[in-house]
Amino acid sequence: MVELDPSRMPRHVAVIMDGNGRWAQQRGISRLHGHRVGKDSVRAVVETSRRLGIPYLSLYAFSSENWGRPPREVDGLMSLLHRYLETELGKMMRHQIRLLAVGSLRRLPPAVRDALRSTIEATRHNTGMTVILAVSYGGREEIARAARAIARRVDRGELRPEQITSAVVAQHLGTAGIPDPDLLIRTSGEMRISNFFLWQIAYTEIYVTDTLWPDFREREFLQALAFYQQRQRRFGKTPAQVERDQQRLRAVN
Ligand code: FPP
Repeated sequence: MVELDPSRMPRHVAVIMDGNGRWAQQRGISRLHGHRVGKDSVRAVVETSRRLGIPYLSLYAFSSENWGRPPREVDGLMSLLHRYLETELGKMMRHQIRLLAVGSLRRLPPAVRDALRSTIEATRHNTGMTVILAVSYGGREEIARAARAIARRVDRGELRPEQITSAVVAQHLGTAGIPDPDLLIRTSGEMRISNFFLWQIAYTEIYVTDTLWPDFREREFLQALAFYQQRQRRFGKTPAQVERDQQRLRAVN
């Protein structure tokens, strides 16, 4: 049994769901089948997060680089996403889950884009939890888009260059208003960020597991959360400073 401290849950967990292809290959079945089983892991992680009261969960479902995969696989992933949106809407409403998306949604096939937009619209007033799907997403593109938007504001005279702080940049990202992830999980062992949330993960704890995404279910998720709870987050301070800050906090509470 994994013991978790409910008072030290992360506010935002982000996940790089990797290894569907390898999982399928090991079984001699199609990569697409691996993605299909991966969809059940998505369900498990969303349900567990909701149950534990984690307010934000981000899932890297499709990167801007994934457009370069064989068309059959891209089409398969798009229809998986489409079906997921259709079949999960009822559950999202029942469990008060709000859906958001980040990425270049313009590049999505119109039917998928429409389904995504209407699910976002239908769930916008849900207050139980927020699931952020990163689709057709690339961290560098997101930062470049923010830079263009800020440059336009400077051009219009709404902002002076000296006023461009980190907070201003953050407000122009797809994740504006969402707290930075506390924990980033990557499955299937690779020690890479793969262009995910480059700006947002500046102080995020990173957990990499060898488990392939289709095998990553509630138990593995709880283990990742237990790892997170053992970390001391210092945000650039010394361990002694952090300890002192925590003592002060305990004293005022
Ligand atoms: C990476 O595995 C996974 C993806 C590119 C897609 C993730 C998609 C899902 C989990 C299914 C549907 C998602 C939702 C939100 C409904 P990989 O193919 O790169 O695996 P490999 O590295 O072993 O080849």
